[in-house]
Amino acid sequence: MRAKATVIGAGNVGATVAQRLAEKELCDVVLIDVVEGIPQGKALDLSQAAPIECHDACLTGSNAYDEAEGSDLIIVTAGIARKPGMSRDDLLATNRSIVSAVTRQAVARAPEAVLIVVSNPLDAMCHVAYEASGFPKNRVIGMAGVLDAARFRAFIARELSVSVDNIHATVLGGHGDTMVPLPRYTTVAGIPLPELLPAERIEALVARTRSGGAEIVGLLKTGSAYYAPASATVEMAESILKDRKKILPCSVLLEGEYGIHGLFVGVPVKLGRNGVEEILTLPLTERERAELLRSAEAVRELVDVLSRLG
Ligand code: NAI
Ligand code: 2OP
Repeated sequence: MRAKATVIGAGNVGATVAQRLAEKELCDVVLIDVVEGIPQGKALDLSQAAPIECHDACLTGSNAYDEAEGSDLIIVTAGIARKPGMSRDDLLATNRSIVSAVTRQAVARAPEAVLIVVSNPLDAMCHVAYEASGFPKNRVIGMAGVLDAARFRAFIARELSVSVDNIHATVLGGHGDTMVPLPRYTTVAGIPLPELLPAERIEALVARTRSGGAEIVGLLKTGSAYYAPASATVEMAESILKDRKKILPCSVLLEGEYGIHGLFVGVPVKLGRNGVEEILTLPLTERERAELLRSAEAVRELVDVLSRLG
């Protein structure tokens, strides 16, 4: 029997995730959205591409949650996206109600699933989904670090005129302006980045990575990035569904690791069939540690706002 993923939110990210999951034949896909006709129409359209794309994944669209029954993976992309002038944090109150409601409905049908959260503000929405699901912490995982690291990798590849395949990048912290790209743990064919580029060029690439989401919002004007976010989500999904045990930067609940307590923050983790199978602790310099703690503080501020919202 094929694995099954339920993708909630059939907008730009959700529909692209559904497409990539199906085209990689990772699982059958149920696409759910609140808008009538949209998930059904997109699932039908994607199904009709299957003979040409040569896959046998089954895609179903629905406005209700019964189809989510027994899913191995639940991917939450429902919510509103950023528009120019909005930060990810401006989405907090609206997306909190949406993420909480959709998570409750999905986990009631798929109590053993692994939950990947995509909706923004990402790390705060992981807290919402964690509470709404009642899942153990290893089965609630936020997607951000894979995307942020991919942006850093793409910029480095362009700068050095080498294949993206040769670049491995590490980005820690919350998914926001305080994220912490780590040049010391970023390599080009195994060579640490600081040995290949002067500090000011690295700083420029780090700054572009930090504002990578805003750069695309500014260009699109009516929404935010979705091709790279969908690819990042599917890389995580693949590692979980195939039990590949890839080490990827993801937002997970830290309980003392890196000196951070009770917060979802991006760190490298091993992803397998049980979700988060290990949290890796990188040795950090004083400066790197201070930047990570500052980023965690930014997440804490949003979580505090959530608790004031009641
Ligand atoms: P979109 O607007 O294209 O799609 C969102 C979909 O959610 C819409 O189809 C909408 O009808 C649906 N929705 C709203 N309320 C719902 C509910 N109660 N139940 C079911 N569906 C509901 O937005 P897009 O571009 O797909 O982004 C989705 C979310 O992902 C946004 O919050 C965005 O900020 C976030 N995002 C996060 C990234 C990350 O790195 N973590 C990267 C890119 C986007
Ligand atoms: C991004 O980084 C909007 O969080 C989204 O593109």
